[in-house]
Amino acid sequence: MYQRISIHGQWSSRLMFILAATGSAVGLGNIWKFPYLTGEYGGGAFVLVYLICLALVGIPILIAEVMMGRRGRQSPVFSWQTLAADAGANGSWKLVGWAGMLAGLIILSYYSVIAGWTLAYLVRMASGSLIRVTEEGAGSIFTQLVMDPERMLAWHTIFMVMTIKVISRGVKKGLEQAVRILMPLLFALLLVLVIYAWRHGDFAQAYEFMFNSDFSKLTPAALLTALGHAFFTLSVGVGAMMVYGAYLPSRVSIAKTSILVALLDTIVALLAGLVIFSIVFAHDLAAGDGPGLIFQTLPIAFGQMPGGSFFGALFFLLLVFTAWTSSIALIEPMVSWLVEKRDVDRIRAAIWTGIVAWLLGIVTILSLNSWSFSFSFGGQLKHHGLFDVLDILTSSIILPLGGLCVALFVGWVMSRESVSEELGGGKSIGFKLWYFVVRFITPVAVLLVFLRAIGVV
Ligand code: PFF
Repeated sequence: MYQRISIHGQWSSRLMFILAATGSAVGLGNIWKFPYLTGEYGGGAFVLVYLICLALVGIPILIAEVMMGRRGRQSPVFSWQTLAADAGANGSWKLVGWAGMLAGLIILSYYSVIAGWTLAYLVRMASGSLIRVTEEGAGSIFTQLVMDPERMLAWHTIFMVMTIKVISRGVKKGLEQAVRILMPLLFALLLVLVIYAWRHGDFAQAYEFMFNSDFSKLTPAALLTALGHAFFTLSVGVGAMMVYGAYLPSRVSIAKTSILVALLDTIVALLAGLVIFSIVFAHDLAAGDGPGLIFQTLPIAFGQMPGGSFFGALFFLLLVFTAWTSSIALIEPMVSWLVEKRDVDRIRAAIWTGIVAWLLGIVTILSLNSWSFSFSFGGQLKHHGLFDVLDILTSSIILPLGGLCVALFVGWVMSRESVSEELGGGKSIGFKLWYFVVRFITPVAVLLVFLRAIGVV
């Protein structure tokens, strides 16, 4: 059997990969972004399209990306280059690796700013200063935060330092150590919150909102957003799963493991949505509040509930953890590339990459206040200027296009033998089904959604 060795080390077990990949997938995307997008795009129909996108596009590409990573055993750029050479294809395929790496850096830049908000709210919640906060009070606390660039910069800096710290310690001592502690805590916290929302929130209405589909609300922009979010939430299209795949021991089944990761990610998103909307509806708050949703509405709800300060602090702690394990994944493609290409040590690579993402984060910080402007995207009004532009550019454009390239490369450029060898046998029904989907369904689905969003079909 054909094998390369990663210079960055390997996960010590299948479980470690599952924890790390789930840590990468589960993040602000599940708990902050998915609920606010669901609220903005009207609920059930959006959720249904998102689930279809996950099944037909997200999961097949996740399997393909992990497979490419394990076969290439390098940073995404070099894995693309090596696999293209193996297949006798054009070397420009590595540009896809480049685009993903840059998209990862851009996402990290704003991700860290939002993670900074969660740190700020964690401190506020824990200090008890949000007890019995009114609707206006919560609104003005949030506005004060986003109108204060220095304060956001301070939290953004703290979060970026946390990310650099973990990543600079390497695969075993940094990444594994972090997810080993954080992931079980995260699941335990989520469970506590589900029980809490079940007892004190309006679960029935939240369920109705999330699973009752009203297709009249489904615009082309909503379709593209659901598709983009399927990529974002599974961390595909960036190269993060590819680089995690590069550290995967050879014997582990890629398909089974990837499906498990995707399932865990989806369960967390749906549960987070149920928790958040139960609380929102129990207090007659607005579901379509955009990126501020959890920050503006949840403190009111927690502030009125018995033990709310404690559970509110738990909630924001959960968010910090999920953001942390995802930002590690966002930065890893670039760090591993720098180590391979420039032969610098990991610590330096992590610091330099972190500094670039930190600087870029300032653009997001200023977009929320002094640089803000509004524009319309597919009929939806966006108010946060360059922050929204960066988000749309990455989630709705680069990630789906990167995923499309992965599907085309694996389905049409790599030989069927090497693909089936890496995935452990080409005779099973599962493999045949996946291969068919990756070759035909996934590319067509991504293209159709794209063309529809830009008004061609
Ligand atoms: N999947 C993460 C989330 O849902 O928050 C975001 C993310 C992490 C995207 C890592 C891409 C990535 F490489």
